[in-house]
Amino acid sequence: MKAIEITQFGGPEVLQMCERPTPECKVGEMLIKVHAAGVNRPDVFQRQGNYPVPPGASDLPGLEVAGEIVGGDLSGSDFKLGDQVCALVQGGGYAEYCAAPLAQCLPVPKGLSMIEAASLPETYFTVWSNVFERARLARGETLLVQGGTSGIGVAAIQIATALGHRVFATAGSEDKRVACETLGAERGINYRTEKFEEVVRHLTDGCGVDVILDMVAGDYLSRELSALADDGRVVVIALLGGAKAQIDAGQVLRRRLTITGSTLRPRPVAFKAAIAASLRERVWPLLEQRTIKPVIFKTLPLAQAAQAHTLMEQGSHIGKIMLTVA
Ligand SMILES: NC(=O)c1ccc[n+]([C@@H]2O[C@H](COP(=O)([O-])OP(=O)(O)OC[C@H]3O[C@@H](n4cnc5c(N)ncnc54)[C@H](OP(=O)(O)O)[C@@H]3O)[C@@H](O)[C@H]2O)c1
Repeated sequence: MKAIEITQFGGPEVLQMCERPTPECKVGEMLIKVHAAGVNRPDVFQRQGNYPVPPGASDLPGLEVAGEIVGGDLSGSDFKLGDQVCALVQGGGYAEYCAAPLAQCLPVPKGLSMIEAASLPETYFTVWSNVFERARLARGETLLVQGGTSGIGVAAIQIATALGHRVFATAGSEDKRVACETLGAERGINYRTEKFEEVVRHLTDGCGVDVILDMVAGDYLSRELSALADDGRVVVIALLGGAKAQIDAGQVLRRRLTITGSTLRPRPVAFKAAIAASLRERVWPLLEQRTIKPVIFKTLPLAQAAQAHTLMEQGSHIGKIMLTVA
């Protein structure tokens, strides 16, 4: 099969088309003929040599695909050959064929294109497990999303607003700030001109927000503690602003704050299976009713994976960058 491989760590040009054997499915896996694959920031980190491939995973980039089931072990599942599915995978998405654990596959939501479906798994699994499970965003609670127009941020705004939460979101330009509000955020916050902690405290009558989804960390963390309500939770999913932080531990103690975080990729199949089940029950109906419409910024052919990475690194995108496989 044709695939895109990382020939060495470096810039986007190290992504090259290659020939690889079609993956062999292990027990409990299906083989998907890929129609579309999502591009995510972790693919960029992997290409740069900053995100090691977990043991046993494909070295090819690509954490999410949508396509048609063409093989594998479908016993014990409600899938059959020819079904259209989307899947969270540990790697190998930038390819004509991809093996995926059955438990990490979901049907393409009715009415969505393959490209839209392929844009869902990495961000939806991450948002669900961090915002709703790890940080336990509960009915009536408020959410601040850092990086509101990122793939992750768009998913977080859309899912949380569709489930009835008040959402605030940060972005680095006026266009992106407005985009956050168009997506459903009550207030977009331009982090270059406004202090998010002051804005959210003002908008919550001085209380602060219950949960913050953070991809920045670094010196944001101490500011986030002051943006949290008592008993609030901040969940760190990336370190774009640096790993080291200085915080006032007194606030954590006095106001019963929680600082937590996680990375999805190395977690076991059983963990991801539970997230898939929750998404199917709680979020897939919202996609099928078109309450949530995936936001696709740009779609490029697989052969232009390097251009897709360049586009992501330029950072002007709102929503997802996608690859299509002929
Ligand atoms: N832990 C996990 O399991 C997991 C899973 C998937 C992804 N991630 C991480 O989540 C992040 C987002 O992924 P993605 O694929 O959605 O990437 P992406 O679309 O490239 O988004 C990166 C975002 O970071 C925002 N950002 C950078 N500096 C910021 C700051 N100081 N304040 C607020 N926002 C800031 C950017 O906002 P502006 O463009 O507006 O500046 C941009 O929206 C990545 O770092 C990725 O590695 C983690």
